[in-house]
Amino acid sequence: MKTPTYLLIILALWASILMSCNQKQTTDGDKQMNDLIDDLIGKMTLEEKLGQLNLPASGDITTGSVSSSNIAEKIKEGKVGGLFNIKSVEKIRAVQQIAMEQSRLKIPLIFGMDVIHGYQTLFPIPLGMSCSWDMELIEKSARLAAQEASADGICWTFSPMVDIARDPRWGRVSEGSGEDAYLGSQIARAMVKGYQGDDLSKNNTILACVKHFALYGAAEAGRDYNTTDMSRIRMYNEYLPPYKAALEAGAGSVMASFNEIDGIPATANKWLLTDLLRQKWGFNGFVVTDYTGILEMVDHGLGNLKEVSTLALKAGVDMDMVSDGLPGTLKQALDEGKITQQEIDQACRRILEAKYKLGLFEDPYRYCDVNRAKNEIFTPENRQVAREVAAQTFVLLKNDNQTLPLQHTKTIALIGPLADNRENMPGTWSVAGDFSKSVSLLDGLKNALGNETNILYAMGTNVVRNPELDARISIFGKPTKWDKRSQKEMIAEAVAAAKKSDVVVAAVGESSEMSGEASSRSDISLPENQKELLEALLATGKPLVMVLFTGRPLTISWEKANVPAILNVWFAGTEAGNAIADVLLGKVNPSGKLSATFPQNVGQIPIFYNHKNTGRPLAEGKWFTKFRSNYLDIPNEPLFPFGFGLSYSTFDYKNLKLSDSSLTAEGQIKVSVDVTNSGNYDGAEVVQLYIRDMVGSVTRPVKELKGFQKIFLKKGETRTIEFTLTEKDLLFYNSELKFVSEPGDFKVFVGTSSASTLEAGFVLK
Ligand code: NOJ
Repeated sequence: MKTPTYLLIILALWASILMSCNQKQTTDGDKQMNDLIDDLIGKMTLEEKLGQLNLPASGDITTGSVSSSNIAEKIKEGKVGGLFNIKSVEKIRAVQQIAMEQSRLKIPLIFGMDVIHGYQTLFPIPLGMSCSWDMELIEKSARLAAQEASADGICWTFSPMVDIARDPRWGRVSEGSGEDAYLGSQIARAMVKGYQGDDLSKNNTILACVKHFALYGAAEAGRDYNTTDMSRIRMYNEYLPPYKAALEAGAGSVMASFNEIDGIPATANKWLLTDLLRQKWGFNGFVVTDYTGILEMVDHGLGNLKEVSTLALKAGVDMDMVSDGLPGTLKQALDEGKITQQEIDQACRRILEAKYKLGLFEDPYRYCDVNRAKNEIFTPENRQVAREVAAQTFVLLKNDNQTLPLQHTKTIALIGPLADNRENMPGTWSVAGDFSKSVSLLDGLKNALGNETNILYAMGTNVVRNPELDARISIFGKPTKWDKRSQKEMIAEAVAAAKKSDVVVAAVGESSEMSGEASSRSDISLPENQKELLEALLATGKPLVMVLFTGRPLTISWEKANVPAILNVWFAGTEAGNAIADVLLGKVNPSGKLSATFPQNVGQIPIFYNHKNTGRPLAEGKWFTKFRSNYLDIPNEPLFPFGFGLSYSTFDYKNLKLSDSSLTAEGQIKVSVDVTNSGNYDGAEVVQLYIRDMVGSVTRPVKELKGFQKIFLKKGETRTIEFTLTEKDLLFYNSELKFVSEPGDFKVFVGTSSASTLEAGFVLK
């Protein structure tokens, strides 16, 4: 029987009412986007859809071992979705033109890059940035990075890297924000805001990519790309929060990590990429693999390229970075019924959505304004910001006898392999930078001192003694400046300079490429030859300041015991030398605080402040007791704890007060403390608040950061600093992975580092 027309009309009306109800959240913008993409997907061939999932590398900048070929041809055929690490607006414009003028459907390409700590104006490495504990500054640095990158054609950055890392042997600790989930989450948010601004389609904001999802920082033995394995409860409480925070801040893309989780590589892990990321956390952007992430699953032992590509797509991967797995094998997988058309369409749609949100469909050349490139990159203003930011990231680790700031010095001996070394100022992942334009410490001191002070420079020693190791740490165009002279000769020259001077500044530590990707170290002390140099300099009896360049916490127990002043400057970016001079000469008072614990030796690793108490904790003040949790040969204490950092001034903490002795679910407690700048310099201090949940259904850390404020106090000034605690600050994931608080006793600690001792308590009712 034929259905009467009037019934068909009623049914159609009903269906459209239902649809509009379902989409009542959809905005006009979403509708336009959906219409455009529906229309496009309707026209696309299977090859063109798979093309959108393809992210080859340009040959411009090397960040891995694959070189993609025939890119222009592939773009014409619609077989490329985007390109990464191609540098210069002219080139990007030309490539976009191929897509827009010579491909059938004229779908714009997306251009990504590892803009990690600045574009051409480089800021300190992320680990350094995190030691500023200054969210405004971090957001501003990401904003400037976005501005410069977008002026040069880039619309997508593979940043922020938010992996919690507690093993400084892992070279990539340099790329993240250290060991703490609370601090890491704040930084993740600030960076996403900085990159994406409040409107992604503006021509000076870029799409953020949160990486590496997830747990990459827990690589076993600190060896890069290694296995991770951890309980869900640790994952939820200690490792996942920064990724979640970045997504809550609106990050539009996620990069899957190399490591496995529960035995399944992240790139094929459906629990991670779909159940958690999309279903639980509501992420609606796209997921890109890491470099050859799909192909590597062959070596992980999950099957051949077609099989692992199928696994990746089904797990929730949308874009394939250089494996040629999704574009190369999914047609066959579809023919064999291993995947569905809908799964391909969904991934393709997510890439197209990102392009739409970036405004590329409206104007594919939105990020290709050649005039912007001329006027907005590496400007004096941006460099000035980089200089100011850099000085905020330095951590003063020791300053006996007020060796610093340098005063009334007529002659400075500037010694060390990092003293006159522009190439090694920016640190890892400074792919768009021009290293010859960065400011070395020698440049910086000369700029600051002019002819007033005599600077005697000597290299003193090489970065490392072994030429083979030197070659390994000079792969990416940041040579260490290997000097062929003998160690004896070089040290003799340095000692002669030291003897003629009032003070010795030794620029020592790691070179840029001793940290970063594939730069794990099993021994994280200062190279032996540099230690010999320090010994020789100390023997001159001249005051010695060690300026420490590093991309990770180092084991510098001997240096701590013997060198009177140590300023840790990480890798401070383009303006490193000027910023270091600002601090050495007292123009800026250092205020950085460690975001990662410095161990006494590698045997203590992993070491982090928010550890558990165990059933056999060591009593305070002891360093060994039989049958307690400790070592025979070394105390449990780190060399420098999380949150630690000195100032040229001193800060006293008094009168820790809580507004109440109990807290209810709806209530709040005000925590106040008086902080006095009791020294001789104006300066900034990071006031830190930690809590301890004394009794729980699961064990809780001995301390957890729950608040901090960076304040500036004039010398002699006292200020009452107030924090507010609510029940929300006490939430954690319990053994059923429910986010709960539990009534009972809590302690509060406030002070200058995680070792702070002012203590109070309250009860959660
Ligand atoms: C591999 C790294 O793990 C990742 O962080 C980076 O974004 C890609 N290579 C692209 O260079």
